[in-house]
Amino acid sequence: MRENLTKWMMVVGMLGSSLAFGAAPAPTKEMLEKAKPSFGKNCAACHGEKGDASGQMAAVLVPKPRNFLTEPFKKGNKPDEVFKTISTGIPGSTMVAFTQLQEDERWALTYYVLELQKPGSVLGGNKPKGGKSKGK
Ligand code: HEC
Repeated sequence: MRENLTKWMMVVGMLGSSLAFGAAPAPTKEMLEKAKPSFGKNCAACHGEKGDASGQMAAVLVPKPRNFLTEPFKKGNKPDEVFKTISTGIPGSTMVAFTQLQEDERWALTYYVLELQKPGSVLGGNKPKGGKSKGK
């Protein structure tokens, strides 16, 4: 009984937070799967397959592409902020607007980037950090 109630509260909570986001679709496994080849094609040359800024272009770019695993995002790392970065680019850098990609593909890439940042990510980006968690 109690368990059921907890489950329902989780479902309602999830619905609530996705509604609060407005346009942001909820991330799904399918989105991440879809984003992988797209990231390889559109982003990895600069940001590296794992988001560690190890792409061939990274060495010669000024400013350097963001290392998703170690550096904070100056434009924010909430899903709608990352989506905006991908959609409008960062002026004065080689991070251009990717408006040639469909919106759903940009959302998929948004969640892919955020997934790469997570310690112990299923995508093999960030390694889990040993020791105490900082509650981040
Ligand atoms: C030609 C190289 C290049 C490509 C391709 C590229 N980026 Fe970037 N990206 C950059 C650079 C350079 C920066 C850092 C800009 C700065 O510091 O002003 C950056 C920064 C970012 C940031 C961090 C923004 C912030 O707030 O700090 C995100 C997120 C990002 N890129 C996502 C992507 C995604 C997703 C793709 C593929 C669709 C992509 N980039 C493709 C060069 C690139």
